[in-house]
Amino acid sequence: MRSDPTVYNDEVLDAAVAAVRERVGWAPEMALILGSGLGRLAEAADETTIVPAAEIPGYPESTVEGHSGKLVFGTLEDTRVVFVQGRVHLYEGYPVQQIAMPVRLVRALGAERMLVTNSAGGINRTFESGTLMFITGHLNMAFASPGVGAGEVPDRAHADAADSFYDPAWTNRAEQVALDLGLEARRGTYAWTLGPNYETKAEVRALEHLGADAVGMSTVPEVLQAHKLGMTVLGLSTITNPAAGLAAGTLDHDEVLEVSERVRGGLMKLVRGLVRVADE
Ligand code: HPA
Repeated sequence: MRSDPTVYNDEVLDAAVAAVRERVGWAPEMALILGSGLGRLAEAADETTIVPAAEIPGYPESTVEGHSGKLVFGTLEDTRVVFVQGRVHLYEGYPVQQIAMPVRLVRALGAERMLVTNSAGGINRTFESGTLMFITGHLNMAFASPGVGAGEVPDRAHADAADSFYDPAWTNRAEQVALDLGLEARRGTYAWTLGPNYETKAEVRALEHLGADAVGMSTVPEVLQAHKLGMTVLGLSTITNPAAGLAAGTLDHDEVLEVSERVRGGLMKLVRGLVRVADE
């Protein structure tokens, strides 16, 4: 069953590509998907052209604070990039296929690499707020995929590739960049939950047993889509808070935005470095 029959309509994607190409005369090499509170990373780019989501046919509009929807095209470290600002989440009510539409768009525009960022709750007890985590694997705890309804069938090649949704070579180089910058960067497994509720303490305990190091409400649909389209992916989480039950106090979205803001300087330098080492 397709949750939205227009999602895989090539004409919709073609119209989106045409709308962007009317405004931007060059092809991006890399896409950077910006998570909660990280939208300002796009300010690092030079010679930017902004395309608001509202001007792109079929593009999903975010409803969450800190997620204004736009594509920012520009140059970063001599690389032509597109920042995807204002991602949408499954909890906003969009079909998962729609959530992955920006990835299909940037791929169709030419991007072969994707750096995906997010804010996440820390499950690994050695992760403090502000820790940066390179994603080396994920748990799909929303049990959803943009491949559903796309005519894909389970195949062995896909299963074999499942451990390398996140490019090991780019991740290794990225880790060295972080080290050189003196940043606290770790590796770990990201669990994707539906939201919008933060997890219960019981869920966090369960996720810990399942091997998750961090938990959040995004990223996996974009990564599944990028992988399907043959893109090379690097995943980076900012741990903005201990997951529910792992520290005193209650969680709120403002805290997430505040910690994202605090680490932004270091993250900006890191992201530049990650772009620089993408192709080595
Ligand atoms: N849980 C889920 N998503 C999140 C969290 C969290 O604790 N922090 C930031 N995004």
